[in-house]
Amino acid sequence: MTIPPAVFGRVPAAIQKTSLLVGLLAVLAAASLAVLLARSLTRPIGRLTAAVEAIGSGRPADIPVDASGETGVLARAFAHMVEEMKAKTSALEHEVEERRRTEAVRDQLAVRESLFSAAVQSSDDSIVLQTLDGIIIGWNAAAERLYGYSAEEAIGQPTSILLPPDRREEGKDYLRRIARGERIEHFETVRLRKDGSPVEISVSLSPIRGPSGEIIGASGSARSLTEARRTERALQQQLEERRQLFDASQDLIMIMDSQGHIAQISPSCEAILGYRPDDMIGYSGADFIHPAHLEQSREEMRALRRGGHPKLADTRCLHRDGREIWLSWLGNWSDQAKRYFFVGRDMTEARLAEESLRESEQLARNIVETALDAFVQTDDRSIILNWSSRAEELFGWRRDEALGRNAIDLIVATGERERVKAGLARFLDSGDGQTLNRRRELVCCRRDGKEFKAELSVTALKRREGILFNVFYRDLTDKIASEERIRHAEKMEAVGQLTGGVAHDFNNILTVITGTIEILSDAVAKEPELAAITRMIDEAAGRGAELTQHLLAFARKQPLQPREVDINSLIVDTAKLLRPTLGEQIQIESVFEEESCVAIVDPNQLTTAILNLALNARDAMPGGGKLIVETGAAYLDEVYASVNDVRPGHYVLIAVSDTGTGIPSNMLTRVFDPFFTSKGPGKGTGLGLSMVYGFIKQSAGHIKIYSEEGHGTTIKMYLPPGKTATAVGDGVIPATIEGGHETILVVEDDRLVRDYVLAQLHALGYVTLQAANAAEALAIVAAGKPFDLLFTDVIMPGRMNGRQLADELMKTRPDLRVVYTSGYTENAIIHHGRLDSGVLLLAKPYRKSDLARIIRKALLG
Ligand SMILES: Nc1ncnc2c1ncn2[C@@H]1O[C@H](COP(=O)(O)OP(=O)(O)OP(=O)(O)O)[C@@H](O)[C@H]1O
Ligand SMILES: [Mg+2]
Repeated sequence: MTIPPAVFGRVPAAIQKTSLLVGLLAVLAAASLAVLLARSLTRPIGRLTAAVEAIGSGRPADIPVDASGETGVLARAFAHMVEEMKAKTSALEHEVEERRRTEAVRDQLAVRESLFSAAVQSSDDSIVLQTLDGIIIGWNAAAERLYGYSAEEAIGQPTSILLPPDRREEGKDYLRRIARGERIEHFETVRLRKDGSPVEISVSLSPIRGPSGEIIGASGSARSLTEARRTERALQQQLEERRQLFDASQDLIMIMDSQGHIAQISPSCEAILGYRPDDMIGYSGADFIHPAHLEQSREEMRALRRGGHPKLADTRCLHRDGREIWLSWLGNWSDQAKRYFFVGRDMTEARLAEESLRESEQLARNIVETALDAFVQTDDRSIILNWSSRAEELFGWRRDEALGRNAIDLIVATGERERVKAGLARFLDSGDGQTLNRRRELVCCRRDGKEFKAELSVTALKRREGILFNVFYRDLTDKIASEERIRHAEKMEAVGQLTGGVAHDFNNILTVITGTIEILSDAVAKEPELAAITRMIDEAAGRGAELTQHLLAFARKQPLQPREVDINSLIVDTAKLLRPTLGEQIQIESVFEEESCVAIVDPNQLTTAILNLALNARDAMPGGGKLIVETGAAYLDEVYASVNDVRPGHYVLIAVSDTGTGIPSNMLTRVFDPFFTSKGPGKGTGLGLSMVYGFIKQSAGHIKIYSEEGHGTTIKMYLPPGKTATAVGDGVIPATIEGGHETILVVEDDRLVRDYVLAQLHALGYVTLQAANAAEALAIVAAGKPFDLLFTDVIMPGRMNGRQLADELMKTRPDLRVVYTSGYTENAIIHHGRLDSGVLLLAKPYRKSDLARIIRKALLG
């Protein structure tokens, strides 16, 4: 910097003047002294001389001022001069001292000035001095750098070289304010560089004062704003961005002091917790946390403070309206700022959604687990992703074994695999939903290799990761079996109906033949050839009757007379009958679980059934073997009952087993079919088992056949149990023929049968009345013709059946005796295949003896 001309020059000039004066005076004094010496060489002169010498050598001098004469004058003048000189010397000394001090000050100032100037030179801020009229008088290095002008170029120039045209007035204005003594601090403006480019600066201006304090110029220090601005702007930008984030955040941003008091909180707190930031700032965070989470939160804050990075647990916070809000947190502690920083996210909805998702997943799992069907989930490569416990049962693979395996290879039957794979590929290619939401049947394969038919219900679910197939497999084995059973039962039913109908008509015909043949044989008794023919007819009719009997039994249409029967003794008796029939090669063994075993059954039919089974056994053991008849109590449970067309409960079991050839499994389902026989034409009718089947069913029992080819056969018959035993032979009337003379009203729609009955009754001595139907019978009664007994068919055309006719007549004759006859009975006379108690039924076909016996029994009451 260049300093204005110094004022110190005046001081050395004064010193110079004073020295000259002192020299002159000394010369004058020496001259005077010489004159005085020349005038007198007296003692005063000597003293004066000594004084002068003393003065000359700086010692104290004794000037003889008291000397007289000229010497005295001289001495006094000398003394005066010495005094004068002393005064002048002291003034000189003072002046020299003064000057020395001034010099020192000047040196100090110079040092200060050079220091100051160095500081100014080295300042990073540009410093420019200017006069009040705007001429640059000072310019430091920073100014050179800032504006591009060197000091030489700048000094002496007007400051306007730096002012953009539009800022000229501004410059002048500032100078005016400086002139008034104002300081102007940190104003931002624009200046021009030497190269004409603008530069943004921040300037402070202060007045420069002259020695007397008057303002002589302005000193301006400036700094380029460009850099600082950039930093500041970036900082501001950053602050603004953070503020925006803070304000716009949906999450809760919270700053807490070391005491846990909220120092800052984002406005999102209103949406999340219902409080405005002002309601929360200054309060302890604990005021907003559910009490159950307080301790944990505190522990987490302590951990944060220790510098740890604990995983913060979700906390329940309290909404202003009392609701609980779940927040999940991120947190930090800044040692520098002594603050906690937290970001909390409202998880309430998410948790609810998660919870309901969990619930629905649980529900889905439960459904899958409780489903009766096996559930298998696969991806688009058929890899098993899910495998329910029913699937474990159905296919035999455990979940851990099945997961990850290829479902097609694991559970689809070998013969079906290619087809399924091709179908899957087609579906994946086209995505046309061919296998979607569809039910289909597929042959599957169990772990043990056994194949079975399953019904599949498939849904495909498009997911981001690919397609998921959810498949329910329903084992059709039972369904197929039960359908088969139903079909079989229906078939048996239908065949039964048909058979029953045919047998009924056939029976009527046979009744006539058997009846009339007796008359015929009586008539031709004396002609042996004809008698032989009638015997043949009689035998054939007998066989026909037997056959229809079997057919009716199968059709469950034979009249049964069930009662409580001790099965064990019945079997003992039957066995006696069997022994000769079976021959010696076959051993008979009976095993009775209990001493007495009572069932409700028709004993005669049961005997026939056992005989049939025994004969089958015999046929199956041509080389001999063992026939075992067992009895015992049995309980058929719900499960068995549900798949076997029988009511669950207690039964009496009769099992007939043999050690014969057994029945091939493909034949097993057909052996009960009527006319099914393996025995060849003429050897077997195929009605034996059918009859047994029908009889057991009709007796409210159940029959089951177990057989293995090569091992033997067991047939189990289950019969309803009774309470007390009844001797098998009870109530059997001896077969004697006894007639009578009573009047019998015969009602029979079939003329042939009616004629036969009438003939028989006449032969027995009875008087008869006859009617073809109920109406005719009623007319006879109405006509007042007396009779003792009503003999009526059960099933008759017309408004009334036999039962209804009897009921009608009994209204006026409650003690009327009635005998029913039928080959084919319906509920009217047999409730569920049984006779009403007290009802007498003569089953067709019947012999004269049967007719005579039942008529007598009825008349006797
Ligand atoms: N104990 C058994 N062992 C082996 N096969 C049997 C046995 N019982 C029945 N079967 C088979 O069942 C078929 C049908 O028997 P069912 O008694 O109904 O008729 P059938 O014995 O052939 O003729 P019928 O009984 O009139 O003599 C028999 O032909 C035989 O093939
Ligand atoms: Mg048989």
